[in-house]
Amino acid sequence: MLDKINRIKDEAIKFKAANHAELEDFRLKYLSKKGELSGLFDEFKAIASDQKREAGQKLNELKNLLTETFDSFKSLLDNETATSAGINDMTRPGESIDIGSRHPISIIRREICEIFARMGFTIAEGPEIEDDWHVFSALNFPKEHPARDMQDTFFISKVPEIVLRTHTSSVQVRVMETVKPPIRMIMPGRVFRNEAISARAHCIFHQVEGLYVAENVSFAGMKQTLMYFAKEMFGENAQIRLRPSFFPFTEPSAEMDIMCNCMSDGTCGCGLCKGTGWLEIMGCGMVHPNVLENCGIDSQKYFGYAFGMGIERIACLKFQTKDIRMFFENDVRFLKQFTAAGL
Ligand code: PHE
Repeated sequence: MLDKINRIKDEAIKFKAANHAELEDFRLKYLSKKGELSGLFDEFKAIASDQKREAGQKLNELKNLLTETFDSFKSLLDNETATSAGINDMTRPGESIDIGSRHPISIIRREICEIFARMGFTIAEGPEIEDDWHVFSALNFPKEHPARDMQDTFFISKVPEIVLRTHTSSVQVRVMETVKPPIRMIMPGRVFRNEAISARAHCIFHQVEGLYVAENVSFAGMKQTLMYFAKEMFGENAQIRLRPSFFPFTEPSAEMDIMCNCMSDGTCGCGLCKGTGWLEIMGCGMVHPNVLENCGIDSQKYFGYAFGMGIERIACLKFQTKDIRMFFENDVRFLKQFTAAGL
């Protein structure tokens, strides 16, 4: 048996296939079901057990040699066929590789985070599935406040205590519960509201929350920070205005508008500002003392301001997108239009 193995080994080493037909003959002769290798394995079953070790080893070596010989000639011949068919033609023009691009919402989120990072804000994140305390109660929402209604809030299963967060202000609470002032943080995240989907509203959208808590914090300081943000985001000529508003967790509260891109006299007709010349981009205000106390912060000693903006809203303004739904449909023809310098 060992002689036979050695003979086949020599034949395999010397073997050369000039074409597929010769290679097929090789396969039939040695490797097929009725080929020599399988014959040897049959013989192997019958040999004395004290010789099995050596013979088995040799047989395995032979098997490897035969399959390697077959494989290497096969790939060589396949390659030759491909070349003659022009598949490996090195002179053919290259195929361009479609590299992906960042989602417009990610581009704007990063831009917002970078602007605030330059002012010393660090980033915090919190869970999307939240409890009533962090989304509402700690933020000074009275028990009967309409925002807790089924209308706005998605509840998890049948436990009314657990909700999908309706705003990133819940992360403010988580931060203030764990971090001692001074706190200067922004909190980007996804939020959920049970609203009908339209060109201007979606049930899922993104916000960036900001929070500054320290001993000397003023409304004027907040205004300056937001002014800086607006100029960085929308250009040196950007103008802002603050309108009095109401949020249970800030007092006083305001909504910030920026001057519409195309005109300031209200006659631009762009459809975005509805002829008012101003566009609302965020809510803001001084953190309500009740909220500070709910989070274990001494409201006699510390003050804070907070703001929250919708990323889709800002993306619509920057990219002149008229329909918010485009950001969620993931149509690559839409998505690949957006690039941001350095991002
Ligand atoms: N959470 C508010 C909203 O979703 C925005 C806001 C944040 C307002 C922080 C004031 C302070 O509309």
